[in-house]
Amino acid sequence: MIPFNKPFLTGRETEYISQAVAGGKLSGNGVYTKKCQDFFEQRYGFGKALMTTSCTDALEMAAILSGVGPGDEVIVPSYTFVSSALAFVRQGCRIVFADSCNDNPNIDADKIERLVTERTRVIVPVHYAGVACDMDKIMDIALRHNLIVVEDAAQAVDSYYKGRPLGSIGHMGCFSFHETKNIIAGEGGMLTINDSRFIRRSEIIWEKGTNRSEFFRGEVNKYGWVDTGSSFLPSELVTAFLWAQLENIDVIQQ
Ligand SMILES: Cc1ncc(COP(=O)(O)O)c(C=O)c1O
Repeated sequence: MIPFNKPFLTGRETEYISQAVAGGKLSGNGVYTKKCQDFFEQRYGFGKALMTTSCTDALEMAAILSGVGPGDEVIVPSYTFVSSALAFVRQGCRIVFADSCNDNPNIDADKIERLVTERTRVIVPVHYAGVACDMDKIMDIALRHNLIVVEDAAQAVDSYYKGRPLGSIGHMGCFSFHETKNIIAGEGGMLTINDSRFIRRSEIIWEKGTNRSEFFRGEVNKYGWVDTGSSFLPSELVTAFLWAQLENIDVIQQ
């Protein structure tokens, strides 16, 4: 049988997992999580990077942060993986599918504007197989209609549009480190936030609706339940594995 995919290992994954175990901090938001987040923020200029347990979870966070609710419409390409739509369906949104380009499976930016109604809130361009959507046109439509753009960059780590990293152009971006992707962690993902309006709330939603991140930075003297959220952050075992991959991103991409 020919396997669908074969995970690439750099050789240091288990070494870093062992270090995380020896360090005694296995839950999320520890040393390896911060290393991965810093790496992405510095190398690609993302406003904020938050590691998540999957791209599906990153999309769910983006849907919550977008503030959408029942009756709101979200434009999603008809050719994509379920999660691009599912994250918004969970918020009660109506999905409006946009057709692909004639020559590639990405959303046809010229067919988006005719789908916009007064209920439209979000556009989700999917950079299928790392091929960039026409982000200039999409951001222009979003600006004129006051829409939020969530880039589904699940397949687009270290991919670019006119020299700009994908996931850094829309208001938010969502990445996957699932075993079938280029850079892997078994199951894993990342939310990037490029619009500073969403940053404070993103940390709260990430940490089960608490302001725990602010507490750890010493900004508040106790933390509590302040908003909706879930347990979107991965354990240090996952980010330790991912760090071994990120150290070798250029080799892996080649
Ligand atoms: C375009 C797209 N979006 C979202 C996802 C979901 O990613 P994950 O498996 O990390 O939840 C995938 C996974 O293949 C994908 O291809």
